Amino acid sequence: MEKLLFIDACMRDNSRTKKLANFVLEKLAKNYTIQTIDLTQGDILPLNKETLEQRFDNNIDEKFVNYAKMFSHAERIVIAAPFWDMSFPAVLKAFFEQISLLNITFKDCEKKCEGLCRAQKILYITTRGMKIRTGSKLEQATPYLKAFAHLCGIKKVYTISANNLDYLSPNDVNEKLKKVMKRNAKFIENF
Ligand SMILES: Cc1cc2nc3c(=O)[nH]c(=O)nc-3n(C[C@H](O)[C@H](O)[C@H](O)COP(=O)(O)O)c2cc1C
Repeated sequence: MEKLLFIDACMRDNSRTKKLANFVLEKLAKNYTIQTIDLTQGDILPLNKETLEQRFDNNIDEKFVNYAKMFSHAERIVIAAPFWDMSFPAVLKAFFEQISLLNITFKDCEKKCEGLCRAQKILYITTRGMKIRTGSKLEQATPYLKAFAHLCGIKKVYTISANNLDYLSPNDVNEKLKKVMKRNAKFIENF
């Protein structure tokens, strides 16, 4: 079976985003072998002066080289991340910084960069506290993911979201999550 990489940035126990992601992954497990990278453990930090200099000396943490290869070789990528500060948790940006590696996720063709990643599609799963829709100017996660996907040569980013969850009763939250799952079930099967 082809490989699907799941990137998990869901920080909370009982994460609503993770609930949506589990529904998606259960369906996709029929067609893909799923590998997971867990960003919740505090071991993914942004590049700093020292690690950037090490990178220029081609001295890169083996863990990130392996993650970059997983990202580059996966047939499909699913990212689950709650909506934080109008975007996604900073650890996800730190992860991208660490795995965006020359000759693994992109190459330099003298006058331009070219993506090297195999995946045609990324599925980004999120839940938002406020009533903010995908595509709103206030939603700054999907635009960044599209730009990063472009750098990697990945053509499409799809977003599945449930919104306004912090202003609904627990019952209504569950109903909303169920609705989102139902609405996207066919799409997920064909992803
Ligand atoms: C640190 C933090 C920052 C947040 N920032 C926003 C925000 O900017 N806009 C918003 O609509 N909701 C925001 N929320 C609410 C979450 O998006 C919302 O509760 C979401 O469902 C949490 O997902 P989870 O259950 O997977 O953790 C924030 C929550 C946290 C914990």
